[in-house]
Amino acid sequence: MRSLIDILELSTTELEKLLAVACDIIENPQKYAHKCDGKKLATLFFEPSTRTRLSFEAAMYELGGNVLGFSEANSSSAAKGESVADTAKTVGCYADIIAMRHPKEGAPLVASMNSSVPVINAGDGGHNHPTQTLADLLTIHREKGRFDNLTVGFCGDLKFGRTVHSLISALKRYKNVKFVFISPSELKIPDYVKETLTKEGIKYTETTDLEGSMADLDILYMTRVQRERFFNEEDYLRLKDSYILTPEKLANAKEDMSILHPLPRVNEISVAIDNDPRACYFKQVFNGKIMRMALILKLLEVE
Ligand code: NCD
Repeated sequence: MRSLIDILELSTTELEKLLAVACDIIENPQKYAHKCDGKKLATLFFEPSTRTRLSFEAAMYELGGNVLGFSEANSSSAAKGESVADTAKTVGCYADIIAMRHPKEGAPLVASMNSSVPVINAGDGGHNHPTQTLADLLTIHREKGRFDNLTVGFCGDLKFGRTVHSLISALKRYKNVKFVFISPSELKIPDYVKETLTKEGIKYTETTDLEGSMADLDILYMTRVQRERFFNEEDYLRLKDSYILTPEKLANAKEDMSILHPLPRVNEISVAIDNDPRACYFKQVFNGKIMRMALILKLLEVE
């Protein structure tokens, strides 16, 4: 039995297979409509979510399965002091697979060590978010047709942005990928991420200048400043609008650059960009549901 806590638990061959299944689901959805008949997914969300939780639920329904769960910690026994380990042992008696989001880094890992059914990390604090990365990878695959030879800019809150950390892990395995980290100095990419890149000989640069970096980018991954991870509101207010992508700032961008954002968007991308053919963030939402379908099939070992 396998869980998915960190994107690196999937080999590049396994990722390729998931992408192929995802493309087949898009082409032939009816083939998959009963693959999970009689199976249940539990969504245990100790933190707010729109896309991740609903896309897991939609994914399971589209596979013919059912869904149970909770969408806030207050409505679960966590409010009474129950441990994540005990919650996982309990839910394993009701469901065939669990998707868990938690504000504490490592909570889904603890759940997976105590669960009799697969656990999927749906976001743990400022750490990782592997299924958003699956959505991002399918989007890049469909837009660019490759993962090699890409210059990828990450902009915004690179310190607390878990989607950034997971996508870097996934992309660093491909040939000639270069990263450009664009952030205010307070929200720089964590040292542990940079140390891994340096050790593995992967090229990256750090800057505060979004417009100056634009011309080089094949992909621009915008992110929200993660208010809930700040220690004080003052710092958040000072940093929240550090980067706002407007049509003017795209003046030097490549014609075929893809603009990604895991959403929710607060202010980081002007709505004037939504109709630009380079805007891919709502495509990511659709792709996220499809990749979660492919992942559920894999972890439940459904043929
Ligand atoms: C992201 C998350 O929860 O980390 N959202 C998502 O799952 N699509 C990004 C964010 O909250 O900013």
